[in-house]
Amino acid sequence: MEKRAPSPVRRAETPGSPSPQKSPSDCHPCLPPHTILLIDRGSVKRIKAIYPGSFDPPTNGHLDLIERGTKIFDELVVAILRNPEKDPLFSVADRRKMLEAMTSSFDNVSVDTFDGLTVDYALRVEARVVLRGIRAISDYEYELQMALMNRKLQPGLETVFMMPAEKYSYLSSRLVREVAQLGGSIDCLVPELVAQKLREKMDVAHKFENGAQPAGKAHSEAKGRFRKKKL
Ligand code: PNS
Repeated sequence: MEKRAPSPVRRAETPGSPSPQKSPSDCHPCLPPHTILLIDRGSVKRIKAIYPGSFDPPTNGHLDLIERGTKIFDELVVAILRNPEKDPLFSVADRRKMLEAMTSSFDNVSVDTFDGLTVDYALRVEARVVLRGIRAISDYEYELQMALMNRKLQPGLETVFMMPAEKYSYLSSRLVREVAQLGGSIDCLVPELVAQKLREKMDVAHKFENGAQPAGKAHSEAKGRFRKKKL
């Protein structure tokens, strides 16, 4: 195996606590005396990850994963796929607005959109990691396939899987859409601002179903959706 040159390392410090005094006995036996533990963050590359997905709509499960991602990556880009072949409930612009609002409290998270291959996008934004969530074994096969294909396409890019909190293990955008469209409660499944947007969509759709003719874009969107899709 290739040997790496020793990097400058330092002891972990608890935020707010005074720096511990270093003595040779504190040091790892294999390292020269006075070498300190943990890699110096200033001398390693910052790790930028992308979290690609459809996010139609973003859910509390997505938010949970984003929060976990912020703790291990220096930068996290939530990347919404612009897929002309899909007929999404929310436009890319709406999804972007929702995700921006949901993640505004994280200073290392940004939201972007992309089309084409995820690996090409990752390369363009100089990300080294693709973050994906695995909720249950049923996700694993598809995610493994995708991760291995991405590795084939771009061997330098790593996929990191993280598990959302157990309470979100059954949650998916598809089920949220279905429950909302059938009038079920989506409380606690999505952030309030997403729930509000879903209610607005459903109101327009139900008015259309009941024969009302609201004017404007929302109406034509709803009309199109109910013509094209059965639930
Ligand atoms: O939220 P989703 O729908 O599960 O996300 C799937 C996504 C967007 C990550 C995947 O479809 C994707 O990466 N699409 C971009 C096209 C691509 O790179 N295809 C090859 C993947 S192996």
